[in-house]
Amino acid sequence: MGYSYIQVETRGHVALITLDRPKALNALSSGLFEDLNRALDEIEANEEIRCTVLTGSAKAFAAGADIKEMQPHSSVTAYMTDLITPWERVSQTRKPIIAAVAGYALGGGCELAMMCDFIIAADTARFGQPEINLGTMPGAGGTQRLTRFVGKSKAMDMCLTGRMMDAEEAERSGLVSRVVPAGELVDTALEVAAKIASMSLPAVMMVKESVNRAYETTLAEGVRFERRLFHSTFGTEDQAEGMQAFIEKRSPNFRHS
Ligand code: CAA
Repeated sequence: MGYSYIQVETRGHVALITLDRPKALNALSSGLFEDLNRALDEIEANEEIRCTVLTGSAKAFAAGADIKEMQPHSSVTAYMTDLITPWERVSQTRKPIIAAVAGYALGGGCELAMMCDFIIAADTARFGQPEINLGTMPGAGGTQRLTRFVGKSKAMDMCLTGRMMDAEEAERSGLVSRVVPAGELVDTALEVAAKIASMSLPAVMMVKESVNRAYETTLAEGVRFERRLFHSTFGTEDQAEGMQAFIEKRSPNFRHS
């Protein structure tokens, strides 16, 4: 079955998901998330795919939750339908997912990018949590994830004033890992994803799980968790191959097992 609001391609062992609601600047509707979540389920189940790039258009990664779809909700219908919660699927992927952001990443768009493992930004990218302008507030993790990325002062500034941050400020603040010229965004993200996909998938997934644990636990527990995963890599064929290849001065041939 095809998709209405996204495009999905594969490039070797990398999946490229492109949000595709250009007339609404990729506003995030429930239909778009049904497509996105189904694509992520398929990618997670596909043994050939080892990393995903999520991108939008040159003008907008996504301009936020679909305001026209949200507008009729009451607090009761928002609660009873568990509005926004299905979006969390993105943050639950076990394989890595990179956000490649050009143009607007506002409200839910910024939150969606932050649900990915890291963000590569075009020099045209603009991030913001403008929900305050609508008399509401971020509802997909903006106050929580943005604070962890950029700290309290900037998160308060962004969420209370609704101002946008350009790519240069976003990199300086730690929101994005690197900034590239807009014309090179998707190719760069695909190259980065291909590099990750060339590594041992069990090791990659353990790194992702371990870094994410840093946000959920104390330092001592996090280090203990990391140590146990590190020990467990010695049970993989890929660790044996990786170290043997180093000693033999050749490239490793990972089998992802
Ligand atoms: N929801 C629904 N439609 C949207 C949208 C959104 N978030 N953002 C843009 N659109 C639509 C516009 O309504 C417009 O549609 P029509 O042509 O049918 O009028 C079309 O996309 C193009 O938008 P603009 O004409 O506004 O384009 P612009 O270049 O003049 O401005 C913009 C671009 C500054 C991004 C502006 O569109 C804007 O401010 N969008 C809303 C941003 C926003 O408030 N996002 C937060 C949403 S709430 C949220 O996300 C809650 C949460 O935390 C989960």
